Amino acid sequence: MHLPSLLLFLSLGPLIKCAAGSDWCYHGCPQSPEHWADHYVSCGEKRQSPIDIATGNVQMDPQLLSFTFANFSSRHVIKSIENNGHTVKCKLEADDVEVSGGGLNGTYSTIQFHFHWGSTEHHPGAEHTIDGHRYPMEMHIVSLKKGLSVQDATQDSEGIAVLGFFINGTDDGDMSGPWSELTSYLPNITDTEVDMKSSISIHDLIGNVDLTKFYRYMGSLTTPQCNEAVVWTVFQQPININKNQVQRFPMATGFTNVYRPTRPLNGRRVFASPATPSPSSHSWCYEEEPCEYKPSHWLQLPHSKCGGERQSPVDIETRDTVTDERLGAFAFTKFDDKHAIKHVTNTGHSVKCVLKEDMVEVSGGGLGYVYSTLQFHFHWGSDKSDGSEHKVDSKRYPMEMHIVSKRKDLSLAEALRTPNGLAVLGFLIEAKKADGRSSSENVETHPTSDMEAWNKLTSYFPAIHNINSKVNVTDGISIDDLLGDVNRAEYFRYNGSLTTPSCDEAVVWTVFKEAVKMDQALMTMFPTLAGHHNVYRPTQSLHKRKVYSTKSASGAPGPIVLLLLPACLWAFSHNLHL
Ligand SMILES: *[C@@H]1O[C@H](CO)[C@@H](O)[C@H](O)[C@H]1NC(C)=O
Ligand SMILES: *[C@@H]1O[C@H](CO)[C@@H](O)[C@H](O)[C@H]1NC(C)=O
Ligand SMILES: *[C@@H]1O[C@H](CO)[C@@H](O)[C@H](O)[C@H]1NC(C)=O
Ligand SMILES: *[C@@H]1O[C@H](CO)[C@@H](O)[C@H](O)[C@H]1NC(C)=O
Ligand SMILES: *[C@@H]1O[C@H](CO)[C@@H](O)[C@H](O)[C@H]1NC(C)=O
Ligand SMILES: [Zn+2]
Ligand SMILES: [Zn+2]
Repeated sequence: MHLPSLLLFLSLGPLIKCAAGSDWCYHGCPQSPEHWADHYVSCGEKRQSPIDIATGNVQMDPQLLSFTFANFSSRHVIKSIENNGHTVKCKLEADDVEVSGGGLNGTYSTIQFHFHWGSTEHHPGAEHTIDGHRYPMEMHIVSLKKGLSVQDATQDSEGIAVLGFFINGTDDGDMSGPWSELTSYLPNITDTEVDMKSSISIHDLIGNVDLTKFYRYMGSLTTPQCNEAVVWTVFQQPININKNQVQRFPMATGFTNVYRPTRPLNGRRVFASPATPSPSSHSWCYEEEPCEYKPSHWLQLPHSKCGGERQSPVDIETRDTVTDERLGAFAFTKFDDKHAIKHVTNTGHSVKCVLKEDMVEVSGGGLGYVYSTLQFHFHWGSDKSDGSEHKVDSKRYPMEMHIVSKRKDLSLAEALRTPNGLAVLGFLIEAKKADGRSSSENVETHPTSDMEAWNKLTSYFPAIHNINSKVNVTDGISIDDLLGDVNRAEYFRYNGSLTTPSCDEAVVWTVFKEAVKMDQALMTMFPTLAGHHNVYRPTQSLHKRKVYSTKSASGAPGPIVLLLLPACLWAFSHNLHL
């Protein structure tokens, strides 16, 4: 939202307005968003907006009940429309429009609304993103705590309430209704504030969006001076308008991509109203579970990329792989740190170990960038069937471990829409043969620290039997301990996707050739104890992709054994409903 022009309008008058727009910009001037903090201190602080709303991490807040809107249906309150140098803004009649309820503390007086947009149909411009998805536009309805001046409101941590509405462009939207009337003014407001003699209300513009479904968090103005004074409401459902009306905003104003990139949450919580549908991470499932969206239907989920042509996992046909000399050694930073794991959580589909931020890194290995490691998790089958995601020469392995890293120079939301934004290291896991070497021999060959690490890790599982529950890891366990001495120099490489919805095509995949070896008894424990079976996605077509391979080296080390104590897993058998 835009404060400077709002301040000037209310305090200094219109004469200085033109100068106000010139000191910062969205792009093409020295004070673009990455430099705002050099000139406006608040822009670099920790409670900034906009943000990416990760629906899997929002927390339901029973206090977020219905809003009360006063005069949102009045056809006489939209007073004027102007181009303020950054956006198009509609001013409202003073003291006529109010909003309260919705978990807001008291009544707020609504003063203006304005828009953020992109450039073309393929370059959307909403400010907030939902699970990394950016809608074409966003409308901000700005209100000040009743009784406060603009200056006082910007100094109050809840002084301003902004209602954010996503705007979606559709092929078949109405070309004659309220949005047609609003956009008809756009060519006329190049420099001037134009009176709106319109007969449209705010509710006419909002249309049939369900106003009980919304997200709430504490943030800031999204333009300098980025005051941390905003109680944000972001409605879940978009306003659907015709995409030609969306295009009128950049075309008629000449402004493009007028939105600020998303800012980090820095530990803030995002809340959801009770009416908001439960996170998408719960509405999909794997083949054998009861739910609406099984893997063959994942492509129908909102914002799903699951129907794309670079999906994962795949079946790697070794004779079709292409040797690539550039696939060199990896550099693993802090994989040996015994305090890198922050917590273990039950995602409802897997067990995930979340790492401390900005600590563990992966580079080299032909990746071309430094990646920060975020988490690792597992895929498994049942006591009768295997459950790795990738296959090699049509063979499915019993289990697979995924170590997920994000390009260090990108935010998570940016990484999710960048073709190499994420790097996942996939380790196949197979059973040590029952015949052949005896287990005592293997235990002697390999230090027992591996086993101890897995024992420690699994000892946390009983504490996470509820979905989304998590437990902090206080024992010393490193990733190196868990991987043991499996060969990390030989691997396959291909361009793929996340293997869970939204299946974003942002992953550079590494699948290591040597499988981590585990005790057979342990392998069967995962499905038995987790109460979940076959948590893997079926392999996807390669389409036109190639799978690359490191040069085959001689003298690869022999298999290693990760022998988990069945007893420890037994402890988590009860009530771990994944
Ligand atoms: C709604 O607007 C009318 C005039 O347009 C005004 O008289 C009335 O006080 C407004 N209601 C509120 C709650 O502000
Ligand atoms: C609500 O607002 C009032 C007045 O601004 C303030 O004194 C009070 O602490 C606020 N309550 C909460 C729960 O934030
Ligand atoms: C947004 O518009 C597209 C294109 O018409 C449509 O497929 C999609 O369902 C819309 N999204 C929502 C959430 O309405
Ligand atoms: C825009 O300006 C043109 C030319 O001055 C005028 O004919 C038209 O009615 C104006 N449109 C609106 C919505 O005011
Ligand atoms: C992945 O895609 C990029 C371009 O999109 C290409 O340069 C690169 O070679 C591909 N890598 C692999 C392993 O296919
Ligand atoms: Zn805004
Ligand atoms: Zn995975």
